[in-house]
Amino acid sequence: MEKLNVGVVGAGIGKSHIEAMKNLPAQFDVRVVCDLDKARAQSAADEFQIARIATDINELYRDDELDVLDICTPSFLHYQQTLDALAANKHVILEKPIAGSLKQADELIAAERASSKRVMPIFQYRFGRGLQKLKFLREQNIAGRAYLATSETSWRRRPAYYAVPWRGKWQTELGGALVTLAIHAQDAVQFILGEAKTIAAHTATLVNPIETEDSAAISIQMQDGSLVSFSVTTGSSVEISRQRFCFEHLVAESNLLPYTFTDDEWTFHGDTPEIDAQISETLAQFPSLPQSREGQFYRFACALQDNTELPVTLAQARSSLEWLTAIYFSAQTKTFVDLPIRNDHPMYQGWQPK
Ligand SMILES: NC(=O)c1ccc[n+]([C@@H]2O[C@H](COP(=O)([O-])OP(=O)(O)OC[C@H]3O[C@@H](n4cnc5c(N)ncnc54)[C@H](O)[C@@H]3O)[C@@H](O)[C@H]2O)c1
Repeated sequence: MEKLNVGVVGAGIGKSHIEAMKNLPAQFDVRVVCDLDKARAQSAADEFQIARIATDINELYRDDELDVLDICTPSFLHYQQTLDALAANKHVILEKPIAGSLKQADELIAAERASSKRVMPIFQYRFGRGLQKLKFLREQNIAGRAYLATSETSWRRRPAYYAVPWRGKWQTELGGALVTLAIHAQDAVQFILGEAKTIAAHTATLVNPIETEDSAAISIQMQDGSLVSFSVTTGSSVEISRQRFCFEHLVAESNLLPYTFTDDEWTFHGDTPEIDAQISETLAQFPSLPQSREGQFYRFACALQDNTELPVTLAQARSSLEWLTAIYFSAQTKTFVDLPIRNDHPMYQGWQPK
């Protein structure tokens, strides 16, 4: 496999990206870390022995040596930086959320299609081995019909978190706990159950004095007829994440670790002893690949090499934004919202208050 030369932009969560890529030395070579804040770039470069730093992303666009730009900047910059990186003939790894509206998501999809490069949105929770095992059981037809899923993102965010100027604001964070935190849980539900059909939502700002929501309770009917109860808050003194999927033949339950809930150990209980035996036999065949961020990056490198579908596509990340659009519209209008959201919808150009 030929190594991909990477420039990482944004040295906050970008440091976790660098760490994951450093654990995949056959696939990735992080050549440069870029941050407007030179000290932050330098500190990341020192920590991970990266030879070069930059403070201007334009330098990376012009650098012919770089194959991939890994965009880890504040959310409101993602859309334009991705367009610019594609125009500069780079592949893009893009932190969530990919953009601030369905319109922008559609423009990113069109730009990717018009280029010879690829854009992979980050949804690293999808690659936890627990969640992957459930996906595998479904693919092997062990689970049966879906009935009900519950998803809790009960985390804690204190004022210091919102002291960073871009957070907590519609124009820069693009949304609140839903857009920034629960989007991972949303993607995990969608990864297992597919598309939503109807959404009803309450959102509220209860925990911190910010513009955007920090708590939400949402009720969803999926296209397959199953139901999902979905919640998020930043006011949980004890942090947990929890997902529980009830199927015709089994119940799957995540671990409760807030930031690694899709990793092992998940429990899978069959409806009969015979199904329990089938579950054990099937999981003995489970292909164990790298997980979480490393898992996503590993699959990205393989997909580029084999010219196959990326492990997360822009179309899938667009679906997240479709849920978000429906959630915000439902909460604002106190109505049930049907998906898909069409381009004449009042929130197609953004859910942020004008
Ligand atoms: N996938 C995840 O689990 C996860 C976790 C945390 C954050 N994120 C996402 O990552 C993004 C960044 O979040 P964060 O927590 O790292 O924020 P942060 O504020 O800690 O870090 C962002 C960095 O980007 C730098 N920056 C801003 N504009 C820049 C520019 N034009 N060029 C170069 N550098 C620039 C800032 O100086 C800062 O150091 C957000 O979109 C967030 O939603 C994802």
